[in-house]
Amino acid sequence: MRPQPDKLRKLMHAFVMRTPQGQRGWEARANAILPGGVNSPVRAWNAVGGQSLPIASANGAIVTDAAGGAYVDLVGSWGAAIAGHANPKVVSAVTRAAKRGLSFGATTEAEVELAELIRDRYAPAERVRLVSTGTEATMTALRLARGATGRDVVIKFAGHYHGHADPFLVAAGSGLATAGAPDSAGVTASTAADTMVLPYGDVDALTGAFAQHGERIAAVIAEGAPCNMGVVRPPDGFNRLIGELTRNEGAVFILDEVLTGFRAGPAGWWGIERDVALAKGEQPWVPDLVTFGKVIGGGLPVASVAGRADLMEQLAPLGPVYQAGTLSGNPVAVAAGLATLDIMDADAYATLARAADEVREGVHEALLASGVTHAVGRAGTLFSFFLGLDEPPVTFADAARQDTGLFRSLFRHMRAEGVSLPPSAFEAWFVSIAHESPITRQIVDAAGSWRPNERANP
Ligand SMILES: Cc1ncc(COP(=O)(O)O)c(C=O)c1O
Repeated sequence: MRPQPDKLRKLMHAFVMRTPQGQRGWEARANAILPGGVNSPVRAWNAVGGQSLPIASANGAIVTDAAGGAYVDLVGSWGAAIAGHANPKVVSAVTRAAKRGLSFGATTEAEVELAELIRDRYAPAERVRLVSTGTEATMTALRLARGATGRDVVIKFAGHYHGHADPFLVAAGSGLATAGAPDSAGVTASTAADTMVLPYGDVDALTGAFAQHGERIAAVIAEGAPCNMGVVRPPDGFNRLIGELTRNEGAVFILDEVLTGFRAGPAGWWGIERDVALAKGEQPWVPDLVTFGKVIGGGLPVASVAGRADLMEQLAPLGPVYQAGTLSGNPVAVAAGLATLDIMDADAYATLARAADEVREGVHEALLASGVTHAVGRAGTLFSFFLGLDEPPVTFADAARQDTGLFRSLFRHMRAEGVSLPPSAFEAWFVSIAHESPITRQIVDAAGSWRPNERANP
């Protein structure tokens, strides 16, 4: 049978993409129209070198690029693809929703259902507002905290990422009283002055900040477990301390579970600490506001801010804190989120945990066997490797001491072995329920054949 014209074009395209000229042509074309060739900086390969090709498709645990190269994927749409790429149940829910109409600008039953599902699985989410991105969620949570307290200052921790709204783009400050310096051009000094940056896990710094500035602090925001400086397990009692200080001082505790929500475990990182507290016969701590994203959209743009009813009811139209979105609660996106959460039942979380354990432990053993100094960062089913460190870090300063040159070598080796790692040492390795044992074995074998003394070319 002769190839069909469409198939022929695809084959030609894949062939051209495989050649150096084809790759350079692609790079030039992307760079000529998209700043840096990407629509989000984490997608660029600046930290690891080499040329990423456009993704043509993804299915289950495998992504395929435009040259026809297939890779075991550990990027997982940065966490959203928990049910595996193009999961048939999600695709069919999205298709059914799309046929009923793409967007109405009015409330649908499915939005209410998704919000109820979030509340049922995550008790502190007494009220839920759906938005489209994690950035909107954290931005709204902070506005709500400021509106409710009448205060301006937000405390964040160095190395925690909360999206790209101005108040969060502030680097490590120098001391408690010193306002942070903007981390991005375009963030005004006055905005940065209202953000106080503290070292994560530093009890003295946190209590000191409240002792000195308590009456100015609107909110403390923290990732459930930090996963944007590599994966870091929160020090025991630190989240509880944030909860106590904020409650005593009339500030708001915003727990950012955009990445960890419904992924670190069935009720995010909070659920893991809740279960530990309950097992010890202690009362669990509870955040005032919590933000979700990624998993609750199953690969389409859904995120949410949720939390205490009295705070959430200060949002417009009930209260004076304004927030809105043309595409908020979009019916097609909500269908993807609902289908994803529906798939993620207890069995699915057990499968996810098995996949995470196999990759984490297998790669750890492989690195040990090769004599690579490393530490494993772990928070529930989330994990990453800190090459060159003896023990898992807590602060960003410690995390930043990892050997990024070594990671670059590992990244390129894994790529050559058909495994796609996130292109940065500071990201989690995301597995999905589609990472079945033969696939996790492939990842572990690939790590086992890495010869770390063969550094990647610059
Ligand atoms: C913890 C955390 N908060 C907020 C965000 C921002 O979410 P989005 O990229 O959807 O704006 C991210 C994104 O990675 C995140 O990891």
